[in-house]
Amino acid sequence: MATASAPGKVILIGEHFVVEDEPAIAVAVDLRARVSVEALQGDFRIIVESPGLRACTVFKGKEEEKGDVLYPVFYAARSAMQRIGAIKPLYIRVESDIPPAAGMGSSAAVAVATVAATMAELGREIDEEDVSRIAYLSERIVHGKPSGIDNTISTYGGAIAYRKSEGFIRLQADFSPISLVLSDSGIPRSTGEMVAKVRSLKERYPTVMDPLYHAAGRLAIEVGKALERGDFQTVGDLMNINHGLLSAVGVSNMELERLVHASRKLGALGAKITGAGGGGFVVALCWREDEDRIMGGLRKVSERVMATRISEEGVIVER
Ligand code: PMV
Repeated sequence: MATASAPGKVILIGEHFVVEDEPAIAVAVDLRARVSVEALQGDFRIIVESPGLRACTVFKGKEEEKGDVLYPVFYAARSAMQRIGAIKPLYIRVESDIPPAAGMGSSAAVAVATVAATMAELGREIDEEDVSRIAYLSERIVHGKPSGIDNTISTYGGAIAYRKSEGFIRLQADFSPISLVLSDSGIPRSTGEMVAKVRSLKERYPTVMDPLYHAAGRLAIEVGKALERGDFQTVGDLMNINHGLLSAVGVSNMELERLVHASRKLGALGAKITGAGGGGFVVALCWREDEDRIMGGLRKVSERVMATRISEEGVIVER
């Protein structure tokens, strides 16, 4: 049996705009998905079990299996085996600390960990580029047109600036003075649907939307520079502007606005939707010393409030 884990993420700047090739910035956080894979004997089948989702499915690669909630895990494992050129029956167990459907990259982290654990179980060295690329294929099943930022940050960890056509660069930033406080709107949503909604708005009003995309790209470049010089005040200001753009493209709602404004009022340096929006989490950038106070205040308006740390660790094979 082989086990691998991979981190969830927070997008600091640029979700949605990154789908149309603008740059974006993401950090890996200290919540992880953990996947164990065991090769079985006998006929081809992949059994996927997720105690968290209370689901267990036996996949044989049939058309009707495609709608299953665990199908992307099967797809990631089968794609990893196709890459290696060895198809075996498998048992896969998925566990995750990352809240699902909340904008924190849980599906990508599960895909990355599944690919890495499958390769490890079949005795292959883990090549990060391969892992990320194969995980992307499974993300395409979940989201339709993913930018690739989620599987990239989950594979490599740390903080990255990412652009679809160019790949990523690692940002050298010291995050020790700050904390990312996340508050949950409690509204689940589908990334694929939100991405389709924003793209349709862009298609209908290109002359209005194009400058917003351009502005988002500039924001990401400025945030990259500000992070590297440790200027978190500027990062916060730019996150606020980014939230305005996300509202403009239609992915905010009353609940998310309430959390964004509560975070700012409590003293966050900046606050915005993170991930696809429509629900999920709001991220607030805070000085570390303000973390407890801001979390206390947010607990009055959100059922789930968490503080996360940036994690340098990307995908790892644990055993
Ligand atoms: O909400 P999440 O964690 O699935 O993040 C999606 C980020 C988007 O930019 C909205 C989509 C993408 O593929 O980049």
